[in-house]
Amino acid sequence: MIPLRTATAEASPNIALIKYWGDAEHTLRLPANGSISMTLGGLSTVTRVTFDPSLEKDSLLLAGAPAPPGAQERVARHLDVLRAHAGLGEHALVESTNSFPSGAGIASSASAFAALTLAALTAAGCGVDSNTLSRLARRGSGSACRSILGGFVEWQTGALDADSFATQLAPRDHWALIDLVAVISHVPKAIGSTEGHRLAATSPLQAARVADAPRRLALCREAILQRDFAALAEVVELDSQMMHAVMMTSSPPLLYWMPPTVDILQAVASWRRAGKGVCATIDAGPNVHCLCEPGAAADVERALGSVPGVEHVLACPPGGPARVLLPAP
Ligand code: DP6
Repeated sequence: MIPLRTATAEASPNIALIKYWGDAEHTLRLPANGSISMTLGGLSTVTRVTFDPSLEKDSLLLAGAPAPPGAQERVARHLDVLRAHAGLGEHALVESTNSFPSGAGIASSASAFAALTLAALTAAGCGVDSNTLSRLARRGSGSACRSILGGFVEWQTGALDADSFATQLAPRDHWALIDLVAVISHVPKAIGSTEGHRLAATSPLQAARVADAPRRLALCREAILQRDFAALAEVVELDSQMMHAVMMTSSPPLLYWMPPTVDILQAVASWRRAGKGVCATIDAGPNVHCLCEPGAAADVERALGSVPGVEHVLACPPGGPARVLLPAP
């Protein structure tokens, strides 16, 4: 019997410090602007891919149960991209588990598509460099291209499929920031990122946001390299607010915030005025990521826990790159 081609990989989610919002080209997921993120340690998706010539179609199990049809389709489409790259025709069984509860307020598409891409290419016997891995992960979910790398990561826009991928700006031990994720809702969002990217261009603010992105990227890059928290805080909050301004002025408008979101934004502003190293950023949902300098994290975590509406707080240091997990001997 010919052994099946199988491999398991692990990847972590990431928080965007400069956000990807809107595409220059939708199908290839070429972004309208570059972005910068921190990979989140302590959280991961583990995915096993098994190519099997006896399968008639791809199938996806999430935590052991068949995934909903939309997720099955999205994974099958991504496997088509990976099979074309690897020159393989077999269908696959994909078994994926998150170390964090789904609905914990952490978007899992970045870690999911990074782990899937690495596992599938490894199973297919394809040796690929990290630029190629990142470029291919991008086709599954834009932000997944950043989860291939650990630490602090930048995704250059690129003009073509071939040059739109992420690279590491600084390793995880460069700066011991902590991302405290204040989770205020488990309710799945009505409009996900993929649809949101398509709506971005309907906002009259998107062109100004995109035109100013190189300036914000430069400020953020420099703040990370210099470990300058005050400079980082200023540009991270500006960038997040600019993305949410675009969301709120799209047609139809997207308002992801809930009342506790605003309460936390105001609390973070007052803590920073009082000298604490903390700033806030929000992805496509109501939960607030509070980035902290190491010395501020314990106080901020305690204070966030007592804001009404905060269900729990996750504490994430910078995380490592996507990696292949070897089978137990
Ligand atoms: C607000 O990467 O989730 O988190 O490519 O459609 O999967 P798809 O979109 P996705 O968009 C991320 C949006 C964001 C900002 C960011 O992570 O840069």
